[in-house]
Amino acid sequence: MNTIVVENYEEMSRRAAEILEQQVSENPHSVLGLATGSTPLGLYARMIEGHQQRGISYEHVQTFNLDEYRGLNKNHPNSYRIFMIENLFKQIDISMSHTYIPNGQAHSVEEECLRYEALIDRIGPIDLQILGMGTNGHIGFNEPGTAEESLTHIIELDDSTRQNNARFFESLDEVPTHAITMGIASILKSRKILLLASGEQKAEAVKTLLEKNISEDFPASFLWKHADVTLIADREAYRLVE
Ligand code: F6R
Repeated sequence: MNTIVVENYEEMSRRAAEILEQQVSENPHSVLGLATGSTPLGLYARMIEGHQQRGISYEHVQTFNLDEYRGLNKNHPNSYRIFMIENLFKQIDISMSHTYIPNGQAHSVEEECLRYEALIDRIGPIDLQILGMGTNGHIGFNEPGTAEESLTHIIELDDSTRQNNARFFESLDEVPTHAITMGIASILKSRKILLLASGEQKAEAVKTLLEKNISEDFPASFLWKHADVTLIADREAYRLVE
């Protein structure tokens, strides 16, 4: 794992955008893996800026999102589909038909998981996967206990994850209990992985990750099994290392 330590959130976002824009300029037909949450928002803002001010084009890019809440209407303001439209897709020149997100409202969740994984296999591999990390080490919504071999699947969200995400909802009760997520093995199929961590609330998780104990108890540790992972952490997230 290649680790880059930067000063703050802005610098993390800028460095991540440079890597992503380089990927897209080298291959305009890149397949990108995208995340939601607070961590990649600065990256998405830089991508929008790069598109509007420097003409970086996403016309031929295709994207796969890591996860979606189970049961939320796809037009619900807190669905990850709406998050991506609002924070990125509608502000760049990507074609919506090139953006893939699990359907959290699918009648058969098993069929939806199989469909999504098959789509990744058909259109992928993902050239560059962007990841954030939960305070409990989750990547995507692969909570502790998720198997290394896992493909896209349904998962019950940890209480800690629901509490962390309650800030986006009116109350904790409204946070869905389940989500569809790409599995650990789905993520590890990507050619390159870029993991972002910012802020002191991630310091414990970054420290645990860099201890390199590969275990289901800390899903992000499986990233050590991949040959091309870059971690960009800011000073606060990195402060417990060493
Ligand atoms: C979101 C996702 C999650 C988040 C993680 C960190 O699509 O897959 O793994 O990356 O929960 O969330 P933030 O960035 O809000 O701290």
